[in-house]
Parts: sequence; structure tokens; C-alpha cells
Amino acid sequence: MQKPQNPTWDPQQYLRHSGHRTRPFHDLLARIPGLPARGRPARIADLGCGPGNVTALLTERWPDARITGYDNSPDMLSEAARHAGPTPGGGSIDFRHADAADWVPEEPYDLIVSNAALQWVPGHAKSFPAWIEALAPGGTLALQVPGNFTSPSHAILDDLCDTPEWRERVGRHGRRYVHVYEPWEYLTQLTGLGCETDAWETTYIQLLQGEDPVLDWVKGTALRPILTALADDEQARTAFLGQYRDLLRKAYPPGPYGTVFPFRRIFAIARKKDA
Ligand SMILES: C[S@@+](CC[C@H](N)C(=O)[O-])C[C@H]1O[C@@H](n2cnc3c(N)ncnc32)[C@H](O)[C@@H]1O
Repeated sequence: MQKPQNPTWDPQQYLRHSGHRTRPFHDLLARIPGLPARGRPARIADLGCGPGNVTALLTERWPDARITGYDNSPDMLSEAARHAGPTPGGGSIDFRHADAADWVPEEPYDLIVSNAALQWVPGHAKSFPAWIEALAPGGTLALQVPGNFTSPSHAILDDLCDTPEWRERVGRHGRRYVHVYEPWEYLTQLTGLGCETDAWETTYIQLLQGEDPVLDWVKGTALRPILTALADDEQARTAFLGQYRDLLRKAYPPGPYGTVFPFRRIFAIARKKDA
């Protein structure tokens, strides 16, 4: 069996569904309390910033903030670079390479935010004490992760990876990155660190358009490890995608208005107490 490797990312594929993917970030942002007034612009970190489009949205709420997006994918960072530089409100955005698994804040932050990224970081709750410690008094940690790993799109993928035909090639790639906690677990962990915490979940009933839209969606995310594992074998990749596509067509038949693709997401916001 092959050793799993870090998946390669395709920013353009990921951005194909940016409307649906961005909505939970807006919902997260709307619940973040005011940041501490420290007599200087807010300092913000965005962990797993991807192509940088949601990082840039932070400037709408904090126009003069100094924002750094961190990611460990060179492809995503190079796409994000187009959002880097001074912002119209007098702030700035920059992007840096970092692995969220061992990222330790190098200065106090007013906000550490992570959208749709920590599911790729096994045991990320282990970092919460260090991240909360690094927040300024009154600062906030805000995260959103998908909570849809038992939905048909993922269950079918796991089952397919586990068939005798694919087990040796891709068996370990399907489940490797599924590491989220339930909303109550985020609530308990972050409250236990002394924060005022708000955790919740929302299932978005997404209506996707086009042919095989669920396959197109997962090509940007859940399929990355498998596409990476099969990158050097086009025939195998085509065969795998064909089998998965046929199963998805049965699970998500197109309706008169498009294909309904429900998507559960988990949110947590933890505000550190004031000094
Ligand atoms: C689904 S994308 C989300 C991107 C962006 N936050 C958004 O909401 O559009 C997940 C991102 O997490 C990044 N990522 C995965 N594992 C990571 C890690 N260990 N450290 C840093 N970034 C990571 C990936 O490279 C990818 O850019």
C-alpha cells in the first residue's frame, strides 16, 4: 500500500463553486464579536487560507487590519498572492507558507480564523491552548469545518476506495484527512480554555447546476488525495472517476431545478476573556 502524501491542490477547480463555499464564511464572520481596541489596527491570521479570496473578505469588516494568510500548498499560495498588498482601508494582506499542524503564533493576534481547512489537520484541537494563549485579551478564534463525512458523497467514496480493485492504490487516501469534532466537542474544549464559546451547525441545501456537479465539487476538495495518489496514472484516474461518477449520479439525481447537494458545516467561535 502506498504511503499517503500531502494532496496537491487545484485553486481553479476549488474556486469553481466559490459562491456556495463562501457562504459559510460570511455566516462565520457575522457571528465574530468586535475585536479588542488596542490603539492600533487589528492583527489577523487566516489558517489554511487557500486561494485567498476569503482572506480578502476580512478587510470588509476590518478595513485597516494587518492580515496574514497561512497555507501549506504552494499552488494555493501562488493563487492567493494576487490578493496580497496594501488594502484600500489602510491595512495589508500577506501570505506565508506554514503547516497549521505545528503553527505557533509568533505575536499576539486579535483574531485567528480558519475556514474549511482544519479538517485536513489531524488532532487540531491540540493546538487550541497555544492559539488561545496567543490571542490578545478579548481576541477571538473562529473556525468552520465541513461536517458531511457520513453523507453519500463521502460514504460512496470511502466504499469505492475500499474495494479490492482500489484498496491497494488509494485505500488509505479516502479517510486520512477526516478529522473534525462535533460542535459540542468544540464548545467543551474551548470553554474549558476559559473562552466564551458559541458552537453550532448548519446544513446548507445547495442547488448545484451542470452535469455531474457533485463530482465537480469534490474534485476541488475530498478527491484531492485520490487525484494526487493517481496523478501519474491517467488510465487509473479516468477509471476511478468514471466509477465514482456513476455512483454519484444515482445518489444525487438531477431534478427539475438542478442537483440538490445538502452540506453540513460545523462552526465554533471562542472569545478570550478580557484582561
Ligand atoms: C478547502 S481549502 C479552504 C481554503 C479557504 N480557507 C477557503 O475557505 O476557501 C483547504 C485549504 O487548507 C490548506 N491546508 C490543508 N492542510 C493544511 C495544513 N496542514 N497547514 C496549512 N494549510 C493546510 C489547503 O492547502 C487548502 O488551501
